[in-house]
Amino acid sequence: MKKGSKLAAIVLAVAMAVSMGACSSAGTTAASSGASSAAASTTIDKIKADGYITMSTNAEFEPFEYKDGDKVTGIDVEIAQKVADKLGVQLKVNDIAFDTLITELNSGKSNFVAAGMSVTEDRQKNVDFSDTYFDASQAIIVTKDSPIKLPSDLNGKKVGVQQGTTGDTYCTNEDGKNDIKVSSVERYNKGVDAVADLMNGKIDAVVIDSFPATKFVEKNSDKLVKLNDALTVEKYAIAVKKGDKEMLDTINNVLSDMKSSGELDKIIEKYKAALGA
Ligand code: ARG
Repeated sequence: MKKGSKLAAIVLAVAMAVSMGACSSAGTTAASSGASSAAASTTIDKIKADGYITMSTNAEFEPFEYKDGDKVTGIDVEIAQKVADKLGVQLKVNDIAFDTLITELNSGKSNFVAAGMSVTEDRQKNVDFSDTYFDASQAIIVTKDSPIKLPSDLNGKKVGVQQGTTGDTYCTNEDGKNDIKVSSVERYNKGVDAVADLMNGKIDAVVIDSFPATKFVEKNSDKLVKLNDALTVEKYAIAVKKGDKEMLDTINNVLSDMKSSGELDKIIEKYKAALGA
């Protein structure tokens, strides 16, 4: 029985590889006549020759990226789709753990990271960031009956975060820059698991980006509240491999078009409306 399902998995994997190959050769034909993918010299040439562009993300972050059935959707996916459209290629989405995104990008397995990723000095050492496209902050989610009303009330409390995020960095407070001293930081791969533990009483609060926090609270509005105070000031940008100027310019052009045409605002508003906010 087990053997059979393993075999089925292999057959499926081969079938997928074949169909992906078919898709990339179709792309080559469409992209240009003479240039074989071996002769492709730049990132963009290679993308056009392959017929697809790959984004890495962590689809646990509604409304920026989340799963709607099998499909990954959200604000970042819509921006990424515009980048793909601009190049006339398909968009592929790699959905992986948030704290592995930069490693995957730098290993060459994807062309950019669009993941509600905040620009930080630390990350700037390893990737180049596009122009920013969203103003964000860390927010606190607690249960309605919680004694935690203000950021300072986090002192001595057990706080859940998504591993490797700016919320994690803030609560861990390694450099001692923040006033808060929580008793422990519980790190989760998915924000939704942190929220579940909050409702189970296993942790006292969740610190996560404000827009996703609103979303989590709306889904559990009988039990949860988001506090008004913002803990940080952050900005989201798309990350590319260091020195990949062509990719960066392409993304910045798309962002700039989307900003000036009002399209970016429209997309963001659409996801706000979807929250009933
Ligand atoms: N903005 C935060 C950060 O950069 C959290 C991003 C989490 N994104 C996600 N797709 N899970 O660390």
